[in-house]
Amino acid sequence: MAENGKNGTARAGSVSIGGRAYTVVDHEYDVVIVGAGGAGLRATFGMASKGLRTACITKVFPTRSHTVAAQGGISAALGNMGPDDWRWHMYDTVKGSDWLGDQDAIEYMCRDGIPAIIELEHFGVPFSRTPEGKIYQRPFGGMTTEFGKGIAQRTCAAADRTGHAILHTLYQQSLRNNAEFFIEYFALDLIMDEGVCRGVMAWNLDDGTIHRFRAHKTVLATGGCGRIYQTATSAHTCTGDGGAMALRAGLPLQDMEFVQFHPTGVYGAGCLITEGVRGEGGYVTNANGERFMERYAPSAKDLASRDVVSRAMTVEIREGRGCGPGKDYIELHIEHLDPKIVHERLPGIAETARIFAGVDVTREPIPILPTCHYNMGGIPANYHCEVMTVKDGDPFTPVPGLMALGEAASIGVHGANRLGSNSLLELVVFGRSATNRTVAQIEPGSSHKHLPNAGEAAIARLDRLRHASGGTGTAQLRLEMQKTMQNDCAVFRTTQSLSEGCAKLDRVFDGRGDIRVKDRSMIWNSDLMETLEFENLIVQAQATIRSAANRQESRGAHAHEDFPDRDDKNWLKHTVVWVEENGRTRIDYRPVNLQPLTNEVQSFPPKARVY
Ligand code: SIN
Repeated sequence: MAENGKNGTARAGSVSIGGRAYTVVDHEYDVVIVGAGGAGLRATFGMASKGLRTACITKVFPTRSHTVAAQGGISAALGNMGPDDWRWHMYDTVKGSDWLGDQDAIEYMCRDGIPAIIELEHFGVPFSRTPEGKIYQRPFGGMTTEFGKGIAQRTCAAADRTGHAILHTLYQQSLRNNAEFFIEYFALDLIMDEGVCRGVMAWNLDDGTIHRFRAHKTVLATGGCGRIYQTATSAHTCTGDGGAMALRAGLPLQDMEFVQFHPTGVYGAGCLITEGVRGEGGYVTNANGERFMERYAPSAKDLASRDVVSRAMTVEIREGRGCGPGKDYIELHIEHLDPKIVHERLPGIAETARIFAGVDVTREPIPILPTCHYNMGGIPANYHCEVMTVKDGDPFTPVPGLMALGEAASIGVHGANRLGSNSLLELVVFGRSATNRTVAQIEPGSSHKHLPNAGEAAIARLDRLRHASGGTGTAQLRLEMQKTMQNDCAVFRTTQSLSEGCAKLDRVFDGRGDIRVKDRSMIWNSDLMETLEFENLIVQAQATIRSAANRQESRGAHAHEDFPDRDDKNWLKHTVVWVEENGRTRIDYRPVNLQPLTNEVQSFPPKARVY
């Protein structure tokens, strides 16, 4: 049976689990991309434009993906506002990563970022413009010229709605190139066969059918798992579905202990106020009205990298210099800026501050707090986006058929800390890279291995949760997990907080045995979907806190108060972590690649950081 309006190869059958019949629709594609944010759409449109039969599965409408919330911009050394060089960008990114970044991948990103952004411009992204008509670029934290000497204006902006502009353009290009979209489909599990990924199972939320997508390449572009925390700039949909599917397939995640806290989340609400605010001249103060960043980062000040600013703010609050009656937030000022600049370049944050903080930014400061923003860790992959695992001592063992990119992946470009505006860059650069690699490897339309019962374990898992009849609601377990992560694994961590957090999370994990799903239907069952999402979150919370407890040093976003120094002798290595079925973890390591990709740039060996 052909599915309505979709590719003619779709056929429907039925699978019985515990006496309950599930309609299963089979599809065959060259490539299936899971996720329709910036990374997923760049890969979708890229692959479709090269003649590959391409499907994109997404649990939300593409232009509602979380990339839409990215504000400040996308970095690339275009040099529109002054001299710039991709080698300077590379140096900043390596330094920003606290030397945990893989320098081959960083070189690839910083070099390829330039054509990737020009290409975006030609696709139709409505970038803000300089008076001469070039793409407008603003300063962002950690972005310098001449290997740290000056401040670079490197972040290309479409006002403060850059992600929105990119996402809409990429969706339009995908449709133009006849990519097929499966919208409001929830990906359940990978189809694995003898270590090879052969596709993915998904649940159509709208009609309750199950779909078995066969593909020569399955590309995970499912975003981060920010919602393991109670307060996050991430959308509620950021439940790391791809990372959890990889874990369930017996694959590890990498560098999960490195979670970025954005310094300027709205106090109480957590919504993002872009770093572009400080790029345009905004600054932060404590209760004494002091511009305290001058003490912590005398040179970069408010434009120090995010880990530095978030820690400084936390110390100010801890030492009693927080603002407000509870002395528990910091203030961000742009009242001194010309309202015309605010109107032209920062209209979105003015609206956000009004709605979520009740503040008129042209007259009053915005109350802010460091807020969980980005997972540096994810599914380990090389700069071609090919997923890798550690097997029999080989840390570069490929997982054929599986790719990962965007925040879901750990390609190694961010190391222990990501520089602002390198995230949007990563999405488009590696969406292109995944396309190039796939085109070189796949013969369009080639046949698929016969796997008649593939994916039945995924349906059985869904069925078990759909009929879970314990005494504990999913929301209760989710809140306990989020509070634990927020309290015990936040900007600063200690041996004690991490060990208490691990014990609490084990209890939450074990509490799954008593979970209750009330709604038994298959159509728009948000109770079941939230339970599947919670299942995805809890394994990644386990991976995050266990990796943090294991790393006995401070590096980038991992600030361990009992081990305050960076320790290159023992810890210049990536963590890889597996989560077993019982929720316990196993940890191993992968080496950091300090060698650039070409001889056009020197390698940057680790050195002490000065801000
Ligand atoms: C921001 O505009 O501050 C967020 C963009 C990013 O995280 O790179």
